Amino acid sequence: MSSIYNFKENINQEELENIANILKEGGIVVFPTETVYGIGADATNDKAVEKIFKAKGRPQDNPLIVHISDYEMLKYVATNINSIEKKLMDKFWPGPLTIILKSSNNVAKSVTAGLDTVGVRMPSNNIALKIIETFNIPIAAPSANISGRPSGTKLEDIYNELKDRVDLFVDGGFTDIGIESTVVKVENDTVIILRPGKISLEDIEELGVNVKLDKHIFEDVKENEKVESPGMKHRHYAPSTKTILVEYAKDQIMVDKVDKYIKDNKNLRVAVVCFDEHAKYFKDRNIEFIKMGSIKNQLQISKNIFSILRYIDKLELDVCLIEGINKDHIGTAIENRLIRACEYNIL
Ligand code: TXA
Ligand code: MG
Repeated sequence: MSSIYNFKENINQEELENIANILKEGGIVVFPTETVYGIGADATNDKAVEKIFKAKGRPQDNPLIVHISDYEMLKYVATNINSIEKKLMDKFWPGPLTIILKSSNNVAKSVTAGLDTVGVRMPSNNIALKIIETFNIPIAAPSANISGRPSGTKLEDIYNELKDRVDLFVDGGFTDIGIESTVVKVENDTVIILRPGKISLEDIEELGVNVKLDKHIFEDVKENEKVESPGMKHRHYAPSTKTILVEYAKDQIMVDKVDKYIKDNKNLRVAVVCFDEHAKYFKDRNIEFIKMGSIKNQLQISKNIFSILRYIDKLELDVCLIEGINKDHIGTAIENRLIRACEYNIL
């Protein structure tokens, strides 16, 4: 069983140095970032990075994000940075933005899964920054979860899943944003969003650059189809319980769809994940519901969503219906995670 360092209130210097030593020796450590928890290893140590793939059961063709704490580290891992990429860094780093850059081939091969590019981000979470700074080497870290499962936003959710698979856990409390970083790539002067996150299309547009969403953000990848980011191909964020996304333009349509589903599936135990404001519809009908946050507060929903997807599995439901969300700002990212969690089952 691995030990836990509690950094919720303050960061302990001696423990920080222990973490750096574990990483130096090729160990792997779960730590918080502002988005979700990560499992980190020395990005320059192939054997250590291999341990992450093994711990997660992650497909070998899915590259990891390299986390840096300063621009010296950026120079070490990436090269040929253009003016748009620089603009993105100036505006959004440190923060929840991963930029796919030309690799300088200094990180371990398994980090980039053999690609000539590398995904880099400078997190803003103080614990994450302190760990990278103390280690003084870039840290490769995917989200802390078994591959395909919802990402971890608090230690309680992931400890049992990973306790025998990593060397140490650092507890920083509930992560702020709750969904993973925005992943972008700059191509022909256009910023392409490969994975939406808190930094939205609208935020990037404000820089006065061209920006677009990759088509696979809301669409499944067909067999043998080429993708810009290997992560798009793989099963993601899915609870074990069957989940279905409910799309609607008006509340009444949503309520009718839920009513009909329950009527047509009388033998199944069904619950609904809904906006706080919609709980009243289900209360009135004696339908089980789980509240995900206020319809007026997308940030609250983003913070809660992965924890709710994990909680669903504890309820022993047959089916869980989940309300869809407006596809703007961070809503784009939440809807992207929900569609994938529901494996493109839409009502
Ligand atoms: O917020 C986050 O980004 C979290 C925290 C821990 O930093 N990390 C995270 O890592 O979500 P992960 O491994 O779960 O997702 C990384 C995504 C994958 O979809 C992967 O395919 C993509 O980034 N990616 C990484 N390197 C890439 C590259 N060189 N080209 C294209 N996509 C890449
Ligand atoms: Mg992940």
